[in-house]
Amino acid sequence: MSKHTIAWLPGDGVGAEVLEAARICLDALDFKADYIHGDIGWEFWCREGNALPDRTLKILKETECALFGAITSKPRDEANEELAPELRGKGYDYFSPIVRLRQELNLHTNIRPTKAYPGNPLNFKEGIDIVVFRENTEGMYGGVEFHPLPQSVFDALSAAHKKMKKFGAFGLDNLAITLRIMSRQGCRSIVREAFKFAKRHGRRSVTVCDKPNVLRETGGLMIRTAREVAKEYPSIPLYETNIDAQCMWLVKNPFDYDLIVAENMFGDILSDLCAQLVGGLGFASAGNIGDNYAVFEPTHGSAPKYTGMYKVNPIATLLAAKLMLDWLGENDMAVRLESAVAAVIAEGKVRTYDMGGKAKTLEMANAVAEKIKGK
Ligand code: IPM
Ligand code: MG
Repeated sequence: MSKHTIAWLPGDGVGAEVLEAARICLDALDFKADYIHGDIGWEFWCREGNALPDRTLKILKETECALFGAITSKPRDEANEELAPELRGKGYDYFSPIVRLRQELNLHTNIRPTKAYPGNPLNFKEGIDIVVFRENTEGMYGGVEFHPLPQSVFDALSAAHKKMKKFGAFGLDNLAITLRIMSRQGCRSIVREAFKFAKRHGRRSVTVCDKPNVLRETGGLMIRTAREVAKEYPSIPLYETNIDAQCMWLVKNPFDYDLIVAENMFGDILSDLCAQLVGGLGFASAGNIGDNYAVFEPTHGSAPKYTGMYKVNPIATLLAAKLMLDWLGENDMAVRLESAVAAVIAEGKVRTYDMGGKAKTLEMANAVAEKIKGK
């Protein structure tokens, strides 16, 4: 095995703790890598007005992929209050660094596996195995937003669409707009990635989820594009669902779904729902995948109230490391890591607080590492 070069991005909150756990397991696998630390997270926003400094982006350019811990994300007003006083009022604007990473590196595909590992006391039902493919750079996450609404935007929209005029009565100061911008290319790419994955992994169906009965243009584009792509894969059926019903059906009969593909925001919502079916965010990993780079992460947040307590479940991060190994072509190690995680869960001796146990973050990591080493 050649030596890999990995950007190591702990972030803030419990991010450093879960990455420490990942490192224990990667070392147990004898995965050979240089880990290059990158600054990212809340403290860099507060101190520098930039949660994702340029020096970190430079590190990403010099590495094969990144493993990311967690970051704190706060709405703009709260973010401004925590900015260093000398930086306030100078035009600094908080934007989630993980969302920025996805967009600036064009990590267009967010893959989120949710599998019920046998014996996990938190499984909603045994046997659930759903993968969510989330478009990762467009939709409402695109960041094109207005508040108050500029007159020029109001005028342009009013000229283009008769339904806009009635909103003018509220006054531009009272209007906020977040645009849901979707491209045919973006829709095609995420659906194609989903089908490619389905074919490679012998998945039985792909479900495209949106809301085309109301969001007729964006939702319509997604569904039409999915139908076109599906023709390239005649052996895999494409099902179509609306986001609201999809949420209900996932709870009612999760076994009807194998692989769900959605745009950015709906994919965000669906992936949390699917995560809860298999134990919650402590088990939910994600790969943000582009053409030449990828960032792997647990999908949970920074859990500020647990920071420094080594309390949170590191399994989501271990599964993110597993996704990273797969992406790097280290498939044998990926299988060994996942099997070790599954074995520890099945055995039920080492459980973190979310699983009803008392084990700490690194105890869980060490239990997995022991299994890797065959002890
Ligand atoms: C996720 C998270 C992020 C998102 C947040 C932290 C910005 O919820 O990765 O699912 O909304 O994408
Ligand atoms: Mg989310």
